[in-house]
This record gives sequence, structure tokens and C-alpha cells, in this order.
Amino acid sequence: MANSAIPLSLTSKFILPEDKRPQLAQISSLASVPVIDLNDNGNKNGHYLLVQKISQACEDYGFFQIINHGVPQEVCDRMMSAITDFFELPPEERAEFVTEDHTKQVKVFHYNLKVEGQEKVSMWSETFSHPWHRGEDLAHLLPKNPPKYREAFGEYAKEVRTLITSLFSLISEALGLEKDFLQKRLGDPPTLRTQANYYPPCPNPDLTLGLAIHTDPQALTVVQQSAGVTGLQVLKDGEWVAVDPIPNAFVINLGDQMQVLSNGRFKSVHHRAVTNKTQLRVSSAMFYAPNLDTVIGPIEDLIDEVEHPPIYRSYRYAEFLQEWFRQEGKRRMVKELFQLPK
Ligand code: OGA
Ligand code: NI
Repeated sequence: MANSAIPLSLTSKFILPEDKRPQLAQISSLASVPVIDLNDNGNKNGHYLLVQKISQACEDYGFFQIINHGVPQEVCDRMMSAITDFFELPPEERAEFVTEDHTKQVKVFHYNLKVEGQEKVSMWSETFSHPWHRGEDLAHLLPKNPPKYREAFGEYAKEVRTLITSLFSLISEALGLEKDFLQKRLGDPPTLRTQANYYPPCPNPDLTLGLAIHTDPQALTVVQQSAGVTGLQVLKDGEWVAVDPIPNAFVINLGDQMQVLSNGRFKSVHHRAVTNKTQLRVSSAMFYAPNLDTVIGPIEDLIDEVEHPPIYRSYRYAEFLQEWFRQEGKRRMVKELFQLPK
């Protein structure tokens, strides 16, 4: 049986070749991801300003943090605690979920990076991924242990779903569209998956990564991360920017589908997770993606022949995902394949 626990020693399977190491000394301290207060009703232009801030953040960073988001702190804390407990159970307890088969609905695995001329390199993290659609059929797929997982997840998913509806409404407005446009456009039911990431302290964070550089292939991601433990970094103008781990905030980022739908105006930005020597870091990412049959392409109202010609061709979301899985272990270039010739 595969043992998925990370050893405390940094064996060669985790060590990246020199040109792929994180260069931790070179993190930019100049920029930082915008922090947006969702309850900023201080003046009568509050809503208009909020939409402006979201629009700017989606264009410049593809990332922002939100505070006063309305999800009760206890619900967030219970989710993070259930995730931490899940990964801290003896490895036998999650062995039934350990797999390298990406078609499995519920799975525990390590991400890895293919490196030319050597064995693939494992990331210094363990990942647990499963769907989060509504309905009674979900709970029984989820772990029985820790006992609180199912309930904590159910509550959390309900809250995050409501939050995502508000976010899509704001992002639709930011694009000058009707509030319900994006959620409708993504199709029903959407493809909903979650990924919990567990990053134990690492003896030498310079030699490895928690998660390699990637963009999220979905439409929107809601991330909760351990308060006060840095690790998530975002690429901005060619430099890595650390996302400040603000307590009680969510990190929101746009996925590839939003870049295509907005015809490149909003960005799906490269990001990664780095490790640290002393502190455990845990994150929960809730992904919202189109229905597998939804045809994704630049939104009609955002294109014209002269100034905003479409830069992507249309495709079924299932087609995009198939290509995404085909590029497993590589620095993926998926949306680039759907680019139209200039
Ligand atoms: C992800 C991701 C970042 C983090 O799960 O796609 O980018 O902070 N996670 O763990
Ligand atoms: Ni990501």
C-alpha cells in the first residue's frame, strides 16, 4: 500500500534541479495583492467603488484577498481543523484514498514535476481532492475520519457557494455585464472540486517547492490558508510576490476560463506555494468551473472586429480539461493551445 506521509528528511525525490528552485532571497517586497473589504458601505458610492477595485485587481493581479466576506469564522476554523486532522491521522487511515489515477473522484496524492533526464520530483506537500456538488450523494464519498470532516465540509461548502455567487455577480459587473451573467454562462451544474493542501515544515525550503508554478484551470478559486504562515506566491511583472496570510481573509483568484471568457482582459495568473522551516501550513482551495459541456470562448459582448478581436477560439470545457490532464507534471500551456493566430 502506498504510504503517502511525507518523511521528515528531505530525500532526493523532493530535491529540484537548480534552475527550478524557488530562489527565496528574491521575493519582491514592493508589490502586494490587493485586499478588498466586501462590506465597505462607508459612502454612497460604496458599491461602485467595490466593483472598480475588483475590476482593477482582476486586470492587474488576477488575485485579491477579501475581508468582511460574510462567512462565519467558526465555519472556516472548523474546516481548517478538519483538514489538519485528516492529514495528521496515521497514513493507514487515508490509504484508501491514495491514488495516482486522476479519474478518481476522491483522492490523496502528491503533485510532482517531470524533470528531463531524471526521476520526477515530488512536491513537499500532500493533497486531498474531492467534488463539492450539492446533494446527498456527496457525504458518503467523504472520509469518515476525522469524524467532524463531513459536517465541517458540508457547512463550509454551503457558505462558500453563497460567497461565490456574490463574487461572480461583482466580477460580471466589473466586465459591464448583468450580475447573473457569469454564473449562467458557466452552465448548470458547474464542475465543483476542492483541494486541501498540507505543507509540513521543510528542513531546506530552498531546495524544494510546496506546489510548482501553475495557473488554475477552472474559473474561480476561493482559498483559505493558515493564518500568519506565508507560502503562497503570485507572479507579478516577472517577480514573485508573497500573499500576506491575513487572518479571516480569503484569497480569490481567477482561473484560465475567466481569462478566456474576458478575452484576456482579466488574468489567470501563475502562482506557487513555497515551504518554510518551522511552521505547518494548510490551505483549502474551492474551485468553481464550467459544466463539462459548456462551450467556453470570449464573451460576445466583449469582442468586436476592430478593437477587441477574439484572441481565443471556443472549446468545450471537457476538451480543455482533457488537455490539462495530458500535460500532467509539466509547466502546463493549455489556454495557449486555444489561442487564435494573430
Ligand atoms: C491550489 C493552490 C495555493 C496554496 O491549490 O491550486 O494554488 O496556498 N494553492 O496552497
Ligand atoms: Ni492554484
